[in-house]
Amino acid sequence: MNDLATAATYQPILHDDIKMAIALRSLHEAVTSSVGITNATILVYSQTILIIIIVLFIGNEYYRWAIRISGIPGPIGLPLIGNLHQIQTVSPPEKYRLWSLKYGPTFQIQLGNVPILVINNAAAAKDLLIRESAAFNSRPLFYVFHKFVSKEIASIGTSPWDESCKKRRKAAASALNIIQVDSYAPILRLESSEFIQELRQACKNGDTPIEFHSFARRFSMNLSLTLNYGARASNQKNFDGNPLINEINAVESEVGKYRSTSSNVKNYVPLLRVLDPLLLLLPGNSLQKALDIGKRRLQYHASLLETLKSEIDKNTDKPCIQGNMLRNPETRNLSDSERLSVSLSIMAGADSNTPTIAWGIIFLAHNPEIQDKAFQEIKESQVLDNDPFGNGKVPYVDAFTKELNRYYTILRLAMPKEVTAPVKYNGTIIPKGTMVILNSWACNRDPDLFKDPFSFSPERWLESEDPHAHQFAFGMGSRMCVASNLAHKALYLAFLHLIAHFHILPADEGQPKGVAHPIDGASDSRITSTSPKITKARFVPRGQFPF
Ligand code: HEM
Ligand SMILES: *[C@@H]1O[C@H](CO)[C@@H](O)[C@H](O)[C@H]1NC(C)=O
Ligand SMILES: *[C@@H]1O[C@H](CO)[C@@H](O)[C@H](O)[C@H]1NC(C)=O
Ligand SMILES: *[C@@H]1O[C@H](CO)[C@@H](O)[C@H](O)[C@H]1NC(C)=O
Repeated sequence: MNDLATAATYQPILHDDIKMAIALRSLHEAVTSSVGITNATILVYSQTILIIIIVLFIGNEYYRWAIRISGIPGPIGLPLIGNLHQIQTVSPPEKYRLWSLKYGPTFQIQLGNVPILVINNAAAAKDLLIRESAAFNSRPLFYVFHKFVSKEIASIGTSPWDESCKKRRKAAASALNIIQVDSYAPILRLESSEFIQELRQACKNGDTPIEFHSFARRFSMNLSLTLNYGARASNQKNFDGNPLINEINAVESEVGKYRSTSSNVKNYVPLLRVLDPLLLLLPGNSLQKALDIGKRRLQYHASLLETLKSEIDKNTDKPCIQGNMLRNPETRNLSDSERLSVSLSIMAGADSNTPTIAWGIIFLAHNPEIQDKAFQEIKESQVLDNDPFGNGKVPYVDAFTKELNRYYTILRLAMPKEVTAPVKYNGTIIPKGTMVILNSWACNRDPDLFKDPFSFSPERWLESEDPHAHQFAFGMGSRMCVASNLAHKALYLAFLHLIAHFHILPADEGQPKGVAHPIDGASDSRITSTSPKITKARFVPRGQFPF
């Protein structure tokens, strides 16, 4: 095990611990000097504390063993932390995929005290998440996320299953079904054309690389904001200078980190929480920071919702999801906090579009054959000849988009699930309350589902193989992404126009092809959604339409 690296990952906690130690020492000094406690008393106290810690530790170890799921294999790990140390310096989804080759398609890991069932192939995913879908429809609660960040209200994707969650999911799903998505065509058209125009202005004829990540982020955020509130960043000229946008950006990227199931060690090791009541008294502590992020998130949503409500009163609102919900009799009786929950979910969705576009750009820059083929197909289809920002269908680009989602699977561990009733499976019983991780990354690399799963092949969606095979990037089962139609359509349009308008090249000639590799090219595989390290490329504008 790599101690240095593990220590580095635990740093935020160590940092707090050091602050705590300093505080405790000064407290001790103050007490001893004022009350005159002798060293002998201190010795007795510290021995008692030591004994308590040892007893807690042994009790905790006993508990950790007792709650493992019986009859399901898996790597054992270390006392106290279980398998946590094994997923700190590698990509957890890939580690789980490799473990599945040894322990079988469904195995258990234990992160700290928490046993987790990991599903790693398509057949097992179907057996459990489709056939037993009613038992797999909840989400677990996490200490850091639900007690601090989302203390007041959680997004749909992080809410356990109950009447309210059912209502919220239904409201979001009906606002995002295929028919509704068609009605958002003008929004998609506007956002994808802005995206291209911005790139055109910035690209300097492709002579110098540009930082495309921020363009992709603006596209995704504009899209989510417009869809949800009908507001386009209050139509400010300067997007990055807009305080509201800066705030949304800062808050959302922090929230994303707290959602990770691979870090946030306190979620899994309760002993680390023992001193939290004291920790909360220290200025600038990490828990207060989590609380603050949650509050800031609610504030910006509340202000957007207020704006929309006053527009609705004046009848000047544009069609959007929140507007539909406020006007639609079926969803009108959602409470304000339930409405807020839907908004939180839609903004969180933007966080998944950005890295998908970023990977697509890096991939195209390093795979000129596929880029050329896509361009030829667009040209021959003539769908853009009369309308450079049209949304006509080019099957190859559609298949490219699908394959990109499969190949990179940016939410590689989907979102954690929780079993709500005991499930009989493969000779064992998965108990109620078990946390479940769907390893979408491994399912999308399942050789029984996809021929040659490690190669990038848009053709697999067009011919030979089963073009209707389930692609796991949006998860599976009763809690699958509610926006998969919309996200696919938005990404399809972004790539259709990117490829039609630009010839995309790597930032510099010598850049190794490995930067487009889904694991080697990833910035940090432990965070919730996987982004590429590289954020720059060159965009050479193509000629005028028709080509
Ligand atoms: C490339 C883009 C996207 C990807 C790859 C993606 C992927 C996912 C995945 C893997 C899940 C969890 C599924 C599971 O647990 O089985 C999910 C849930 C969800 N997604 Fe997306 N998503 C994307 C875009 C969006 C967008 C744009 C929105 C909103 C407009 C959105 C809204 C949601 C919601 C509300 C849930 C929670 C569903 C529930 O828990 O019941 N997603 N998404
Ligand atoms: C079912 O159990 C057998 C024997 O314990 C194991 O070899 C196999 O991998 C399991 N199947 C799944 C899908 O986990
Ligand atoms: C996002 O919206 C802002 C404000 O309306 C606009 O200035 C910007 O060009 C848009 N950017 C993209 C990439 O869509
Ligand atoms: C309002 O919500 C309740 C449940 O909370 C539901 O039973 C009822 O049908 C809803 N009303 C309308 C008009 O949809």
